[in-house]
Amino acid sequence: MIHLVTGGAGFIGSHLTRELVKHEHDVIVFDDLSLGNIRYLDDALTGGFCTFMKVNCANLAHFRAAVDQALDGRNAQAIWHFAANSDIPAGIVDPIVDLQHTFMTTFNALQLMKEFNIPEFHFSSSSAIYGDFGHALIDESSGPCLPISNYGAMKLASEGQVCATLEGHGQKASIFRFPNVIGVPATHGVILDFVKKLRADKNCLRVLGDGTQQKAYLHVDDLISGMLFIVEAGQSKINLYNIGPCDDGVTVRFIAETVRDSVAPDAEIIYGCEDRGWVGDVPRFRYATAKLAELGWQPSMSSEAAVHRAVREIAHDICNF
Ligand SMILES: NC(=O)c1ccc[n+]([C@@H]2O[C@H](COP(=O)([O-])OP(=O)(O)OC[C@H]3O[C@@H](n4cnc5c(N)ncnc54)[C@H](O)[C@@H]3O)[C@@H](O)[C@H]2O)c1
Repeated sequence: MIHLVTGGAGFIGSHLTRELVKHEHDVIVFDDLSLGNIRYLDDALTGGFCTFMKVNCANLAHFRAAVDQALDGRNAQAIWHFAANSDIPAGIVDPIVDLQHTFMTTFNALQLMKEFNIPEFHFSSSSAIYGDFGHALIDESSGPCLPISNYGAMKLASEGQVCATLEGHGQKASIFRFPNVIGVPATHGVILDFVKKLRADKNCLRVLGDGTQQKAYLHVDDLISGMLFIVEAGQSKINLYNIGPCDDGVTVRFIAETVRDSVAPDAEIIYGCEDRGWVGDVPRFRYATAKLAELGWQPSMSSEAAVHRAVREIAHDICNF
């Protein structure tokens, strides 16, 4: 079976690619390397099951030519769409970034699903589509969805485009709504940010916001296992799931202290005054995961355990601690 993976040179896409290759699927990765790194695919590229195409998926003509060349008349089973702008603050400064990299990449991938008669589409959406629900528990039917970042808005539009396309084409789609996903190779995110800051200054860690922001964190190993489970077990045409830990998450204060203890135990942590890190940052969300538990899958790690493990992994990766 041939799987097309957009954004496959990024953090999550490279893990999924490795997992598919391990099961002897043929994988073709499409990535413009704007945020990812081909190094993340080193081991996947050596076994003969994985091909890499450098292409901007927001450019339909280039993307189509790359798919055509890579498939060379063969049929593909699925598109796994991970390509997106993962730098939410960058999309707040310039909304075109999310229009192009988060929405147009999805629109084009769906267009090529139709043109190349690919039966399955698996889409990495985000908790950012919900917007700010305060302390309420958010399940898949919570609404109205009122995103507060351009990234969240373009993910929500992408979900709509997946559903509209599946109405007339393809057999099956997955919409995975991820919380914060952590592990290595980290390309972005709060843990990487804190480790880099403490590497630059071992005495002081400045935190964006007052540290009370509280969210769910999922380790990437659990995420890959959850996505593959949904693809296997989901019986609907559109399989829409929150994938997350079964808890209320951890605070930024907990993460700052965990990173400090691991990287620079003598550092002073200095918090900001706002209840959020930046404009567009949802300060807290509580994620309901009962629907996925009913389907038969639960993560192996809590938010707290995932953060402890990811801090060790990222600190080791970045600083060789
Ligand atoms: N990591 C998280 O916490 C998280 C949470 C929710 C949703 N997601 C979603 O999961 C997916 C993967 O996220 P990630 O954390 O691995 O991010 P990442 O930045 O590591 O990976 C994204 C990849 O897409 C590539 N890319 C970006 N624009 C492209 C374009 N126009 N054409 C081709 N390639 C392009 C980048 O080079 C990168 O390799 C994204 O869609 C992201 O929005 C991630």
